[in-house]
Amino acid sequence: MPLMKRTVTCGGLRAADAGSSATLTGWVHRNRNLGGLIFLDLRDREGITQIMVDPKEFPAAAEIAGGVREEFVVSVRGKVVARPATMVNKNLVTGEIELWATEVAVENRANPMPFHLDDANVSEDLRLKYRYLDMRRSSVGRNLRLRHQITQTIRAFLDGQGFTDVETPILSKSTPEGARDYLVPSRVHPGTFYALPQAPQQYKQLLMVAGIERYFQIARCFRDEDLRADRQPEFTQVDLEMSFIDQEDIISLVEKLLARVMADVKQIQVPVPFPRLTWKEAMERYGSDKPDTRFGLELVDITGVLCNTGFTAFKGVIDTGGAVNVINAKGLAESSRKQIDLWTESVKKARAKGLAWMKVGENGVLTGSVAKFFTPEELAGLAAAAGAVQGDLLLIVADQWGVVKNALGRLRLEVAALANLIPADRYNFLWVTEFPLLDFDAEAKRWNAVHHPFTRPLAPDLAKLDTDPGAVRAEAYDVVLNGTELGGGSIRIHETDLQAKMFGILGISPEDARGKFGHILDALAFGAPPHGGLAIGLDRLVMLLTGATSIRDVIAFPKTAKASCLMTESPSTVAAEQLDELHIRCLETAESE
Ligand code: AMO
Ligand code: AMP
Repeated sequence: MPLMKRTVTCGGLRAADAGSSATLTGWVHRNRNLGGLIFLDLRDREGITQIMVDPKEFPAAAEIAGGVREEFVVSVRGKVVARPATMVNKNLVTGEIELWATEVAVENRANPMPFHLDDANVSEDLRLKYRYLDMRRSSVGRNLRLRHQITQTIRAFLDGQGFTDVETPILSKSTPEGARDYLVPSRVHPGTFYALPQAPQQYKQLLMVAGIERYFQIARCFRDEDLRADRQPEFTQVDLEMSFIDQEDIISLVEKLLARVMADVKQIQVPVPFPRLTWKEAMERYGSDKPDTRFGLELVDITGVLCNTGFTAFKGVIDTGGAVNVINAKGLAESSRKQIDLWTESVKKARAKGLAWMKVGENGVLTGSVAKFFTPEELAGLAAAAGAVQGDLLLIVADQWGVVKNALGRLRLEVAALANLIPADRYNFLWVTEFPLLDFDAEAKRWNAVHHPFTRPLAPDLAKLDTDPGAVRAEAYDVVLNGTELGGGSIRIHETDLQAKMFGILGISPEDARGKFGHILDALAFGAPPHGGLAIGLDRLVMLLTGATSIRDVIAFPKTAKASCLMTESPSTVAAEQLDELHIRCLETAESE
């Protein structure tokens, strides 16, 4: 039977259409037989329309409608009828009308569903196994729609700014973005491998040498790393690079881009320029390089107040160059011991030795785990520094600076979540600048690039590269939204000498640098323009703008936390002949689960 073609979608009919005839096509969302009348809720991506079939008037249509089940695909022709005022369904955009069917056709049947589309409690594994059914539910579909709007806006904006969209290879050479590579064996060159790009970093720099000047790409990136709620093994970046620019140009362009996205997609005007914090300031005040500034609870340094304390645990830390910080959990003095124990566990996970706490009672009297160790002057100084008033709870960590900041930075988020301090409908964009260039890996006894090895040292710090590498700041910047690192970038090294020197500092021998990055060193030597760029994590942006709690909810076919696809059951074994062609033999491995 030929398809009965629709004249309108299941979200299209209103009271004004009453009296007209219409044909709808869609899935049977629900079917009911009430007092001899058959009702179908017919659904397509635009909405749901109620269909009524009267067996007395149209027995053939009723016979077919009576036999359909959930998720059958059907077409219905009929007359649009206004519902009486008392019967209007305010939950449906089409709730003012229903379609009285004259003809019904089954376009396709459906097996019994593994879950009901309206069921909010389906396990994620089942949802992912039947992802195509899960996507019929409105939320994932809606997220994909918003994702599309975002990329449309981004493409239009960057096109207007003179950017060229260039595709770069997927079969490529390893890029040092800090994660493990996914490797692809070469059949033609036995024993050699391509790497899937962790980012198009090297290619986009080569495009600047090529004179493209303004490049962008909505680029797929692949990283074999431990997955978290906001990470996937393959994800998408809005990747861009510009020539003859400085940091201010990139920052202001990206601000305009994100403001445009917010205006077009969310109808929210976000003020530009975004606030800026240096990395040092962000760590000092928020204990994080991606601070959530939607609430206070800032970290306060009380090392000075306690520098002569008799409390040996703190004194020892201070004397060895450590720091003591406090956060004032406002109004949480009544927190239970159990809660404080949980918080103590949490700072210990961040490698802190302990969590000291004090409650502020009547007249500002401090009581709690460590109050007895301090003099009245120390207690007064500490309370003043923390802005403590009756009812507050002071949470204190003493340790090496980095440990204190990390531990209290994490605790700050936990306390805020528990105390409901985080306003949901606020979008706080900000920049973090002046990141450290290098990070010392004590185990491997070598310096690592904090961002990547092509990042430019900040000019005033260049001289310290040889004497005090840890103190060198980078011309690198991250854009942060509500405590999530949305994007990051840097101004690059465009001189061969400086790039070679950087490889040297990272412990990469000249031979290794040649082998791994010869193409970059060569290219820089052919008149590379000053250049820089940034990449925004598209999945994370969509996640934040849809309010999704998992990155998987904004990706059509995501991987699980164990990097597998439950729908296609990949990764999977392959035929022995395929391995032979690739000159690969698998070792016997015990099943890891
Ligand atoms: P970076 O490694 O900081 O920079 O990545 C840029 C942004 O990509 C997102 N992101 C991820 N999203 C989901 N899953 C992941 N596993 C994942 N990893 C990163 C984040 C991050 O801010 N080439 C440089 C950019 C540059 O210097 O121009 C780069 O890739 O939102
Ligand atoms: P102690 O005298 O070592 O048992 O410590 C007394 C209290 O101080 C306990 O509540 C500890 O959790 C806390 N404490 C000890 N060391 C630290 C530290 N480095 N930072 C924060 N609290 C600490």
